[in-house]
Amino acid sequence: MSDIAVEAVHQNIHQRQSIGHLVEPAPSAAQLDQAFAAALTAPDHHRLKPTRFVVVQEAQREAFGELLSQALADTGQTEEVQLERVKHHPFRAPLLVLALTKLQDHPKVPHFEQILSSGAAIQNFLLSLQVHGFSTMWRSGAVVESALFKQALGLTEADLISGIIYIGTAVKAIPSRQEINISEFVSDWKK
Ligand SMILES: Cc1cc2nc3c(=O)[nH]c(=O)nc-3n(C[C@H](O)[C@H](O)[C@H](O)COP(=O)(O)O)c2cc1C
Repeated sequence: MSDIAVEAVHQNIHQRQSIGHLVEPAPSAAQLDQAFAAALTAPDHHRLKPTRFVVVQEAQREAFGELLSQALADTGQTEEVQLERVKHHPFRAPLLVLALTKLQDHPKVPHFEQILSSGAAIQNFLLSLQVHGFSTMWRSGAVVESALFKQALGLTEADLISGIIYIGTAVKAIPSRQEINISEFVSDWKK
């Protein structure tokens, strides 16, 4: 890889920032497929492929908002304001992708490793979309604990809704990330 390519890859990683309100355009089907393919190369012990993606297309957002509201009610929320508010959440972006983790019982791959693998897959997914100039926000919320929501997505109660990824185009630039002092997080192991 040339120095320029190396720099570009790092810039893409550093420039990723979550943006809450996103508008059209959303990625094309081909760009989305490229991002799924990137996601599915994530490190994955014994190649169990624990991650699944479900696309909520623009036209499905209203129905999906209804499901979110039912899911929130399922978690015990009774406040009508909250149950109404969540119905509008899918409209924060033109495209949503649900990242699911289907956990398997495996003698060598504990659940936490499968969850980490899904996290790596999601990050690959975000970075692939970012290369094309799209912005994203990885969200969860109380709804991801809902058994009703999991059931609606074909999951068992043990499986996880690991992310509700909002995807689109940023309306305006946001201040760049503060420089991170890596020495606070990195140390040499010494005997
Ligand atoms: C698993 C997971 C779930 C998250 N859920 C939410 C959420 O529901 N709402 C939210 O505001 N941020 C959520 N975040 C955090 C944002 O995605 C984002 O990472 C955070 O705001 C920091 O911004 P940055 O990505 O620009 O560094 C979540 C992050 C992860 C990894």
